[in-house]
Amino acid sequence: MNAPRIAPLVYNYSGLLTAPDAPRLVRETALLPSDLDWLAPRLDACRAEVLADAELFRSGGAVPPEKQPLDAGFFELPEVLLGAQRGEVDRIVRTADRLARQSDRVVVLGIGGSYMGARALMEACCHPYHNDLHRARRGGRPRMYFEGNNVDNDAVQGLLDLLEGADDWSLVVISKSGGTLETAVAFRIFLDSLRRSLKGDEAALRQRVVAITGAKGGLRQLSEALQLPDVFTIPEGVGGRFSVLSPVGLLPAALLGLDIERLLAGAAEMNSRFRQAPPLENPALAFAGVGRLMETRRGCTLRVLSTWGKRLEALGLWYDQLLAESLGKQGMGATPLTVVNTRDLHSRGQQHQEGRRDKLITNLVVEHIDRDPLAIPAWPHDHDQLNCLAGTPLPRVLRAAYDGTNRAYAADCRPTAELRVPRLDETAMGQLLQMLMIATVVEGRLVGINPYGQPGVEDYKRNMNAILRSK
Ligand code: PA5
Repeated sequence: MNAPRIAPLVYNYSGLLTAPDAPRLVRETALLPSDLDWLAPRLDACRAEVLADAELFRSGGAVPPEKQPLDAGFFELPEVLLGAQRGEVDRIVRTADRLARQSDRVVVLGIGGSYMGARALMEACCHPYHNDLHRARRGGRPRMYFEGNNVDNDAVQGLLDLLEGADDWSLVVISKSGGTLETAVAFRIFLDSLRRSLKGDEAALRQRVVAITGAKGGLRQLSEALQLPDVFTIPEGVGGRFSVLSPVGLLPAALLGLDIERLLAGAAEMNSRFRQAPPLENPALAFAGVGRLMETRRGCTLRVLSTWGKRLEALGLWYDQLLAESLGKQGMGATPLTVVNTRDLHSRGQQHQEGRRDKLITNLVVEHIDRDPLAIPAWPHDHDQLNCLAGTPLPRVLRAAYDGTNRAYAADCRPTAELRVPRLDETAMGQLLQMLMIATVVEGRLVGINPYGQPGVEDYKRNMNAILRSK
């Protein structure tokens, strides 16, 4: 049987384009055909570089010094997992199903790239109140909590309160380096708690803990010492914030009952568009190039990802981290900002409408809702004057807010671009995640910044450890 067709994600930046004879303010805030003429061949060259990097990674060839570090392994990972390493996907699903059967709650420990993707998938693809539903309404899947992404005493205590007295919970600990202090500290605390819950039964404990880590490092050694049967390896050449489609994001997603093959299929589909589509019609290339042009030629140093509806905030935060850690280097890099509308029209809307002209707003829109539309009820009285709107479905209200906002921005020469997915499901998320990762790398190559590695973050880690360990 053929796999169901993947409805494509659309990146539409026509709202940002104008003609050379447009009024001055329009020209100064939008892109001209000459900008795109400049861009297209450069995007083509970047694509060739990204594909050559992937090829170098695949062949295991030596990475030249100027390219180090080169974490190009994320690019072909979807195809690899759907093909040669299919067994790894099966093992992820088997482990997730086993853990799901044993547990009503799962605590996922990790920070940065080691948890943000999983959270984005949960928020986008699960019931919005997943953790509050009865098990049957969760499809028999566990509730999921994220920790090890801070060292907030009272927050950790709060989660321990939830787990107190229960023996039906599990732990997934994720750290590529295996040495990140926040995650390592949380692991000690939660492992001790789980051990107490299981009354010291070490065999049972081993069935309740899954580690996802690099080939070497402290967590790997600890997993061996604990004799954990289920340890997944984050492949070499797949960096933290590029690891959402490795076991890092796939195991939590499978635990939640998501179809991880569809997720990978969406990402693979994005790869084939990246390989084939002309630069200016290619979502990943065009998204990177337009961002770059708007930053350098129109002064838009803030990248606002404006999500409509409530389910994409965590995706936006994942992307904030991806862009900020990848390109915020050498005094460069746009500042990403996630907005959730209509909510944030009442907090940031004023500034976006009339503040500095330093923002590129990209709307992220989902075309179809999953549930029956709710309509505004008719009432016998009309104090709130809504009776004239009685019967209007909520999606139409959201659409009116969307159109009204973009119309207001356009009238003030604040043009917007749009990323559109037909439905918020695994294939859409696979496309989005892969597109944003590719676009980030392409932009790095366009600017001459190595998108991999995060040398700045290492400084705080070193200092924190030195402060804690000094006598
Ligand atoms: O993108 C990155 O590499 C980082 O955000 C890491 O994911 C984060 O620092 C966590 O690192 P680790 O997985 O090694 O604990």
